[in-house]
Amino acid sequence: MTSSSVPIYLGDEDLTQETRDLLSSLPSEKGWLVSQIYQFEGSWHTQGLVQGILNCQKNFKAKDSDIILATTPKSGTTWLKALLFALIHRDKFPVSSKHPLLATNPHPLVPYLEADYRVSPDVDFSELPSPRLMQTHLQHHSLPASIKSSSCKIVYCCRDPKDVFVSLWHFGRKLSPEETAEYPIEKVYWYESRKNPNKVLFVTYEELKKQTEVEVKRIADFIGCGFTAEEEVSEIVKLCSFESLSKLEVNRQGKLPNGIESNSYFRKGEIGGWRDTLSESLAEVIDRTTEEKFRGSGLKFSC
Ligand code: A3P
Repeated sequence: MTSSSVPIYLGDEDLTQETRDLLSSLPSEKGWLVSQIYQFEGSWHTQGLVQGILNCQKNFKAKDSDIILATTPKSGTTWLKALLFALIHRDKFPVSSKHPLLATNPHPLVPYLEADYRVSPDVDFSELPSPRLMQTHLQHHSLPASIKSSSCKIVYCCRDPKDVFVSLWHFGRKLSPEETAEYPIEKVYWYESRKNPNKVLFVTYEELKKQTEVEVKRIADFIGCGFTAEEEVSEIVKLCSFESLSKLEVNRQGKLPNGIESNSYFRKGEIGGWRDTLSESLAEVIDRTTEEKFRGSGLKFSC
């Protein structure tokens, strides 16, 4: 682990012999935030996360009723965690001055699978209220087998890679000011959502931002808690908005249990902000890579 405030789950300590053996067979490169990163199942991870992924793949047993939020980092995880939590538990927690999201950052409310399995291989999610809501940054092919074989639902959210790049860069600069980042893009969730629309819902940060109520209703329908004609969606949308969440004391001060500062997850919350930061040539490279990757798929990022 570097001297900067890298979250606990990324750290390199206490690796098992199994993880060490695996790591020694993987391609590796100088890391961002940590000394070395390793290519495992097509993605680059820290040593600690490789162990978390192995534990998660081995030990996590999905239930048919589970809801899994899958995102790439900086694509709207915090927002979706808040929205899904508020949607699923809206009978128990109507929007009011006592709502858990007013007192707790969205991250501790929704477990992050591979990070929790990094901290403890025996982590137990049986206490979570049903339906259980959990989050992952894993690519589709790396998901634990039971997530794919069970009837649990996957909500996948992605974002214009140029905005992700800028967001990740700022986040990393907060964690470790002397380093910078590259950004990987994933596409299998897109194809899975086309093939099996009852299993995987594909959401983009941009559409969620442009027509939040429509998208939130679509998400609620998908996870089986659609809105009745009498119900108001606007209260949940407002509660989970960047403007509301970022102003809360709990999201402005202090650190999360994983060691990250709570305010690191709230920067600007805009679409197209990359224009102020990225050079034309870098933006073109990212666009070209994205276009090549998604050519023929029908997916377009427009902002
Ligand atoms: P910016 O850095 O572009 O502002 P993640 O939650 O996946 O780590 O993504 C973080 C990005 O989502 C940051 O983007 C952050 O500001 C933005 N964000 C956090 N909460 C949000 C919310 N409630 N609504 C919209 N964007 C949000």
